[in-house]
Amino acid sequence: MISDLLSDSVRAAGLGALMRGAGLVTRFIPFPQPTLLVGPGSSGRLGQAIAGFGHNKILIVTDSIISKLGLLKDLTDALTSGGAQYVVFDEITPDAPIPLIEKGIAFFESHGCDAIVAFGGGSSMDASKAIAVAVANPKPLRQLAGYFKGLRNPVKIYAVPTTAGTGSEVTVAAVISDPDAQRKLVIVDPRMVPRMAALDPTLMTGLPPHITAATGIDALTHAIEAFVGHWATPYTDDMALSAVGLIFENLRVAYTDGKNLEAREKMALASTYAGFAFTRANVGYVHAIAHQFGGKYHTPHGLANAIMLPRVLKYSKPAIIDRLALLAVRAKVGKEGEPDESLADKFLDAVDRLNKDLGIPTCLDALQEADIPALAKAACREAHTGYPVPRYMTQEVCEDLIRQALPKAPTRSRRRKKAA
Ligand SMILES: NC(=O)c1ccc[n+]([C@@H]2O[C@H](COP(=O)([O-])OP(=O)(O)OC[C@H]3O[C@@H](n4cnc5c(N)ncnc54)[C@H](O)[C@@H]3O)[C@@H](O)[C@H]2O)c1
Ligand SMILES: [Fe+2]
Repeated sequence: MISDLLSDSVRAAGLGALMRGAGLVTRFIPFPQPTLLVGPGSSGRLGQAIAGFGHNKILIVTDSIISKLGLLKDLTDALTSGGAQYVVFDEITPDAPIPLIEKGIAFFESHGCDAIVAFGGGSSMDASKAIAVAVANPKPLRQLAGYFKGLRNPVKIYAVPTTAGTGSEVTVAAVISDPDAQRKLVIVDPRMVPRMAALDPTLMTGLPPHITAATGIDALTHAIEAFVGHWATPYTDDMALSAVGLIFENLRVAYTDGKNLEAREKMALASTYAGFAFTRANVGYVHAIAHQFGGKYHTPHGLANAIMLPRVLKYSKPAIIDRLALLAVRAKVGKEGEPDESLADKFLDAVDRLNKDLGIPTCLDALQEADIPALAKAACREAHTGYPVPRYMTQEVCEDLIRQALPKAPTRSRRRKKAA
């Protein structure tokens, strides 16, 4: 037992040192940033701008819901009046499965396209990034997963996010899913960062409350994990704190009053700021576990994060009390000058309250006890090979945290009601 504890703490120290070292290197890698157009009507302005860039034909990648809601109109009207040719591929489904991306690649090639507008939530934006890398580097998508696997530059991408969550419009990552292996794969390449992005709140006013909630907590998780991890820099701290402040001020409003343009715009900005923070400072165990839930059970990404965030933060607290205290002040749930320990607790309570107010469940209905060891193993592998986590977790601890999210057995009175 003692030797187990010793080897865990030696491993933790080793991994911590390795990750800190990696952070010293990555902070000097230049990441491109898109030109941002912000405000109502900005998707049309993005169309006007790219119509003048001389592309032969632009592929718009989106999903059928967005297409049916007519959200593409401002963009396509502007492309048409600017004389640009475009085609629409609107078949993306959540978590961008490989076979659909392959269909998108064939569509891009058969129409002779040379640029992509990624229009939608993270699934459409990440499918676009994967298509952009794959058409320039024709090899199986599974072989493009990982860091810098494509030799040639991806084709140019422009982005219009329609959820305020992933921040993919500014990040170096694309998350896709491999349905055969029931896994999510991550492609990382700074050259996939879109050249220009439009944050247009008018596109987000019809986002249903449960998606507003889950995607908003995804953005919050990006900001928090970037802020408490070992790769944080003064720049990522600024971005993360701004995102946290905006989310605590606006997510409840966007959830209860979806048509509120000001709250929608501020959430869109928060999501982008959180994207700037985590694309450099990276994420942590919440995402490592959420990716396993997504791969195995198709749990929406933001919901998976929301269920695990409070638990991972409580476990990490001893290593990050000072950082949680700063987050509490920025979220306006405590005041500067209060003891850090009490501010940290206030922030943890505030995250719980926010989840509750947004109707986020505390458990994951699909979760099965028998799956937990494999889920924890895969989550620890993901975290320990790339995320600069503030407090190391053994597989056993990870299993325990996941176990807390098991659905509660129905009580006798609930069972009786159900039977009736
Ligand atoms: N690349 C990154 O940096 C990054 C970061 C975080 C998450 N992700 C990935 O992004 C994916 C999740 O993206 P998401 O959370 O944005 O969800 P999503 O793109 O899967 O969309 C969720 C649902 O919302 C609908 N929707 C989107 N915008 C809408 C709108 N304006 N009005 C009405 N309905 C709308 C979609 O049709 C879909 O049914 C996951 O695969 C996740 O792993 C990527
Ligand atoms: Fe995320």
